[in-house]
Parts: sequence; C-alpha cells; structure tokens
Amino acid sequence: MTTTSDTTATVLLEASHISVRFGGVTAADDINLTVRQGEVLGVIGSNGSGKSTFLNLCTGYIRPAAGAIRFRGQPITHLSPRAITRLGIARAFQHPQLFLDKTVLESIVLGVACRNRFWSLRTVFQPDYRRKADTIVDTFGLGDYANIVNSELPEGVKKLSDIALAMALEPSLLLLDEPTSSVSSANKFVIMDTLMPILRDSGVTAIIVEHDMEIVERYMDRVVAWDSGQIIAEGAFADIMHNEDVRQRVTG
Ligand SMILES: Nc1ncnc2c1ncn2[C@@H]1O[C@H](COP(=O)(O)OP(=O)(O)OP(=O)(O)O)[C@@H](O)[C@H]1O
Ligand SMILES: [Mg+2]
Repeated sequence: MTTTSDTTATVLLEASHISVRFGGVTAADDINLTVRQGEVLGVIGSNGSGKSTFLNLCTGYIRPAAGAIRFRGQPITHLSPRAITRLGIARAFQHPQLFLDKTVLESIVLGVACRNRFWSLRTVFQPDYRRKADTIVDTFGLGDYANIVNSELPEGVKKLSDIALAMALEPSLLLLDEPTSSVSSANKFVIMDTLMPILRDSGVTAIIVEHDMEIVERYMDRVVAWDSGQIIAEGAFADIMHNEDVRQRVTG
C-alpha cells in the first residue's frame, strides 16, 4: 500500500510517485508522502527498505527515475544538494559527517558561515557568527565539549554535534538518519530530550529515520513504515504497530 496524507495543515514537503532502482533493487517504488509543517515524522523499516534513499532523494544526492518532490510547492528533484540546503533542508547522516579535525565550536561556526554563504576558516573570528555558534552550542548542551575536536567526542556527543551543525544552517526541514544508533540506551534519550524542545521552539519540521521503537513511540508525532521501497503504513505509532503484518515487516 502506498498512501498520501490527507491534511488541512500546511504542506511543507510532498513526494509524488517517486521511483528509484539500483540495478535489480527497487529502493523507492511509487512513493507518495506528504510532510506537514511543524511535525516530527518518524520513518521506520527493516534494513535496506529504502529509508536513507528517501532522505537522499529529498536532499539531491539521488535523482528519481520517476516522480517529483516539492518543497513549499517548489520542485526540488533536479536541484543540487547545496541548492536544496539553501532552500531550507538540512540533514545529518547515518554516520556523522562532521569536520573531524575541527572542534565542536569551530565546526558550528563554519555551519553558521555556510548559512551566510561566507565560507572560510577566518569566519571563526567573526563576532556575529561566533555569537550565533555559541548560542547553538549552549542550546545543545555542548558547552563542555566546545573546544574538543570532533573526532575525539564520545559517540552520543558526536551525534548531537552533527545535529547542531545541521541546525546551524537554519533549516525549516531537518532530516536525521538514525540519530540514536551506536549510542548507549541512556544517551539515546539525552539526544532526543535535547533535540525535541529545540525543534518545538524553533518550529522546525523533522523527518527522523529510526530503528529504535522506544524512541519512535516516545517522540514521533506520526510514523511512516517502509518495506521494499514502499510505504506500507502511515499513522500513529500505536496504530501501525497494532497491525501484526506491518510490525513483522518493519522489525524483521
Ligand atoms: N547508491 C546505491 N547503489 C546501489 N544500491 C543502493 C544504493 N543506495 C541504496 N542502495 C540499495 O537500495 C536499498 C535501500 O537502501 P537504503 O540505504 O535506502 O536502506 P535503509 O532502509 O536506509 O537501510 P538501513 O536501515 O540498513 O540503513 C538497499 O537494497 C541498498 O543496498
Ligand atoms: Mg539507512
């Protein structure tokens, strides 16, 4: 089953009839999905079901064989990742893509500079950028790590630093690919408890790919379940998990 949300809320992103194949693998099979302004949408599904592919499509890393994605009504499927970021979509990857040799603060200053299209290490000394970066570091509770090089951060902090870097781009849509993977059970809640108020306060919409069902149940407003490149269910977590077939396919 592939579904489209019926909603009166403002539509931020809309994917229509998206298909992608990699050789014999169908990674997206006629995907139709609407993301509403302000929601935190969970994307679940077994390994290889096409979740990251969808994020790659939304950010211009992959072009679909068919279909279109619109952001605020504007087609983005043909745009470069950089152009899409400028429109207001930022992402953190399944494996953090931080500036590994930079400190937490330096990399966030670079994120702020990138948002302002002034891209140089000298920007670290620009008071405006530095002030914005300090605020982001504080908001994410990263003050104790501000001067630590990213490569030396504990895994949970690295994830938060990567998300903070994405937020430095001031997106209206944030895409996160497994923000709590490789993190201890205690720290996964720290990540989400830090992130959620930031999203709510800033009104940033989020699509979060997540394998951890505790996280999905606790934090996501709405959930979309993926299998073999298709959306097989969409709705509240409890309703989706009530369906035995869907539960087996997404957790299996
Ligand atoms: N660039 C690529 N080239 C070839 N095959 C790819 C490529 N990207 C994804 N695939 C294949 O497409 C399918 C969907 O992959 P995708 O990474 O989207 O899955 P996923 O749901 O994110 O899985 P996981 O939970 O393991 O991260 C898989 O079979 C994968 O091997
Ligand atoms: Mg993935």
